[in-house]
Amino acid sequence: MIEIQDLWFNYQEQSVLEGINLEIKHGEFCAVVGGNGSGKSTLLKLIEGLLLPSSGNITVFGMDTQKEELILEIRKKIGYVFQNPENQIIASTVLEDICFGMENLGFSREMMTERLERVLTFTGLKGLENKNPLMLSGGQKQRLAIASSIVTDPEILLMDEPLSMLDPEGQRDVFKLIVDFHKSNKTILLVTHDMAVASKTNRIIFLKNGKVELSGETAQVFPELGKYEELSV
Ligand SMILES: Nc1ncnc2c1ncn2[C@@H]1O[C@H](COP(=O)(O)OP(=O)(O)OP(=O)(O)O)[C@@H](O)[C@H]1O
Ligand SMILES: [Mg+2]
Repeated sequence: MIEIQDLWFNYQEQSVLEGINLEIKHGEFCAVVGGNGSGKSTLLKLIEGLLLPSSGNITVFGMDTQKEELILEIRKKIGYVFQNPENQIIASTVLEDICFGMENLGFSREMMTERLERVLTFTGLKGLENKNPLMLSGGQKQRLAIASSIVTDPEILLMDEPLSMLDPEGQRDVFKLIVDFHKSNKTILLVTHDMAVASKTNRIIFLKNGKVELSGETAQVFPELGKYEELSV
């Protein structure tokens, strides 16, 4: 479903990803871990087609992210929760913010109303529809970013540290949301610094200095992580 072949990426002279090969299968729930600056966010942006490979390639459902004519089709398949939810707020009310993506994809009114109701309930944002997103608490902003990215029912959800701004209770609630979304037959890549969270996924991809250091089933990979200082297991 996501295939990455010999992917290299650099920002100007700085080499960020160096020869990444990965295959993500339908229904996988992957944690992407690694120290600061190891290339986790960059990898997600490349999968979404926000950045293009310096060399190598990425296909999503067989569609090459470097083909400009396919980029909208690729984006329809992917929901993206950015590292900072504030960067994702685009409208002046919660309702408009959630509807923005559906409008872009040309959903009918009926479809929008139905999806909106479902996602408001699912994320616990009901009653906050008319609030200004900037006035929400950190946790509510985080939920809004998730609501806006799953409302179009994407097959793949890319999440960049979606729990980072939450208190422990908020983290538990939002993680449960993610688990429930995964159970509805979806594929998830979740960037996290929290090893307790990583331990609850099905697969771990560990990036070190822009390369895949370890990748495999969580039960096998997790015990290996203890020896890496940057991961604070
Ligand atoms: N827009 C940019 N321009 C130039 N360099 C960048 C840019 N964004 C990231 N980098 C550099 O690319 C490298 C990888 O960054 P990236 O954000 O992918 O790391 P990360 O693993 O997500 O780190 P963190 O855990 O801190 O979020 C870092 O050295 C970073 O400084
Ligand atoms: Mg990052």
